Amino acid sequence: MSKPPENSQTGKPRHRAFFGRVSGKRLHKGQHALLETLLPELQVDLPEEGMIDPEQLFSKAAKQRIIEIGYGGGEHLARLAEENPETGFVGCEVFTGGIGKMLQKIAVQGLKNISLFTEDAFRLLQVLPDASIDGVYLLYPDPWPKSRHHKRRFVSKTTLDELARVLKPQGFFRFATDIEDYANWTLAHILRHEGFEWPPCPPGSWHNPFSGWQPTRYEEKARREGRDKSFYFSFRCRDAQNLGLK
Ligand SMILES: C[S@@+](CC[C@H](N)C(=O)[O-])C[C@H]1O[C@@H](n2cnc3c(N)ncnc32)[C@H](O)[C@@H]1O
Repeated sequence: MSKPPENSQTGKPRHRAFFGRVSGKRLHKGQHALLETLLPELQVDLPEEGMIDPEQLFSKAAKQRIIEIGYGGGEHLARLAEENPETGFVGCEVFTGGIGKMLQKIAVQGLKNISLFTEDAFRLLQVLPDASIDGVYLLYPDPWPKSRHHKRRFVSKTTLDELARVLKPQGFFRFATDIEDYANWTLAHILRHEGFEWPPCPPGSWHNPFSGWQPTRYEEKARREGRDKSFYFSFRCRDAQNLGLK
């Protein structure tokens, strides 16, 4: 495993503990086969040292580079990739069941513009060059509802620092959740972070899904369980270089 890169300002390695489930129910036979055959073709490996070359990761021809963190069953990522064949996508997911479902969608839909990262997404962010990504989705991340577990949430000062560094100026960070406490948590972190802004929008419009929205498995679960409103935030990256963050 490669060492985590150092923070350019403090010289200290940037760490983040990972908490999550990596395996669960057994995979279907077809999914298991795809893990052995298709995954090695699509899988992103971390470099032994230094940064990763985005042109290799996303293909040279990709007009835009988009990452989805924690894609779950891959409904949203597969639809985006199908509708935007000239955009390159990297999906990050640690849960084998989700990876199996994603591989099946890639195979059935014949998607050619997705690579997969199967470890903690933060580790990928750490090796991406400054201002190399056009947009990042984080949809229905694990809510970790108990106060003593809030520090496990993906949104934190540390992850926002890294997102602000890798996003291009004006690049987007899109976040969705059905958990009001996580929505407030994320807004508070974003509003405190000099690398991001929340463009003005009419009150309540944050309950409207992003345009061309594909509901995800977790959104459907939320609706079934009676949580009928979600929060959809689209944040913009400021020019972090000029702010001295890169
Ligand atoms: C609550 S599920 C939501 C899945 C999907 N986005 C949806 O809306 O249906 C959160 C997913 O994020 C994945 N995950 C959590 N932390 C992650 C991390 N650090 N890197 C990559 N995936 C992560 C989990 O394995 C899980 O599948």
